[in-house]
Amino acid sequence: MSLKIMVYIIKSLQSGPAAVSLSVTLECSSARGRPSCCEQAHAKMAVEEDIFGTFFDEETKTDVLVKRFTLKNSNNVSVQIITYGATITTINIPDKNGTLADVNLGFDDMNGYLLSTNPYFGAVVGRVANRIKGARFSIKGQQYNVAANRGENHLHGGIKGFDKKIWAANVEGSKVTFSYLSKDGEEGYPGDLLVNVTYSLSEDNELVLEMKATCTKPTPVNLTNHAYFNLAGHNEGAKEIYEHELMLNADSYTPAVDAIPTGEIVPVKGTPFDLQTPKLLKKAIPETPENGYDNNFCVIQKNTENGLNLVGRALHPKSGRVMEVFTNQPGVQLYTANFVPEDDSLPGKGGCFYKKHGAFCLETQNYPNAVNQANFPNSVLLPGQAYIHTALYKFSVQK
Ligand code: GLA
Repeated sequence: MSLKIMVYIIKSLQSGPAAVSLSVTLECSSARGRPSCCEQAHAKMAVEEDIFGTFFDEETKTDVLVKRFTLKNSNNVSVQIITYGATITTINIPDKNGTLADVNLGFDDMNGYLLSTNPYFGAVVGRVANRIKGARFSIKGQQYNVAANRGENHLHGGIKGFDKKIWAANVEGSKVTFSYLSKDGEEGYPGDLLVNVTYSLSEDNELVLEMKATCTKPTPVNLTNHAYFNLAGHNEGAKEIYEHELMLNADSYTPAVDAIPTGEIVPVKGTPFDLQTPKLLKKAIPETPENGYDNNFCVIQKNTENGLNLVGRALHPKSGRVMEVFTNQPGVQLYTANFVPEDDSLPGKGGCFYKKHGAFCLETQNYPNAVNQANFPNSVLLPGQAYIHTALYKFSVQK
């Protein structure tokens, strides 16, 4: 059977009953002992679909099915993403001996993701990630009030942001695209916003997120993915986070009061925010004013060929696991899970408990509150324009 026909069959299956679980790899194995082209295709095309769970949506009074997609490559790296929040639930990567660990914090089932204390684990956050001061902004003289869900400020898209929505999903080849239409007025934002987030995994262990959006009225947009990483393994806790060496390619940051930037852009040199050369988190975290990072850093911009700049590099020496992050965005929020509880109140995958400083996030983004800060990069998308945000996580090992 030709590859083209296979893809067609798979596409039609996908639009059929959601309970169908499929794998291109299985289909290809029927090809009369002619492995070469198919073996290539296996690596590129293995996207599996199954059901992650269901939940009762109080708003629509319906049972909602949550699908899960698994991307795999031939290095045993696999990534799983669900249609709830277009959330990454799993990232399995090998250590220097080839032993796999899931380095992404998350939950085993929907009950976990629905917890009010779920700190956005792995989700796509929007329409505007991070904070909007006073939960209001003006565009062309018109004031808009958005949901105030963190004191008087707006955080991570509001009360029911994109992380709490069910996204449509479509597999094309080795990629899966999640789509969500945010309606005019949702959480107070102006205009419809159509969002597409495409996840792919390369043979070079690069997990790539392409986030795109278009609108019908001028609106601020600032998407991010809120994955929490621990390169020792998701359940290894603060003890192993402190052993990570972290480098950030940022020569300035945006100081903030109560997490709202003051508007200054200040060189990191001579401050605890200077991570331009790798620092052991065990040493760096205690030097920060609030015993942990929750800060926006300004990524050094270079005219690169693919438009992406290096954001940073994390190394966990014992396992040898390395993660490098690249983006076309001007900023990154480094968050060291400061507000994850210190007690056993946040149960995670496999019966573990996630705790303070048990992970780090590198949330590629525009600067927080950019819509109210004229000297920050523009965050207002206009009809006819496209918001395009790439985040690339490259996993490797250092022996
Ligand atoms: C971001 C914010 C933090 C916190 C976490 C999630 O990193 O900057 O203040 O809200 O998300 O809890």
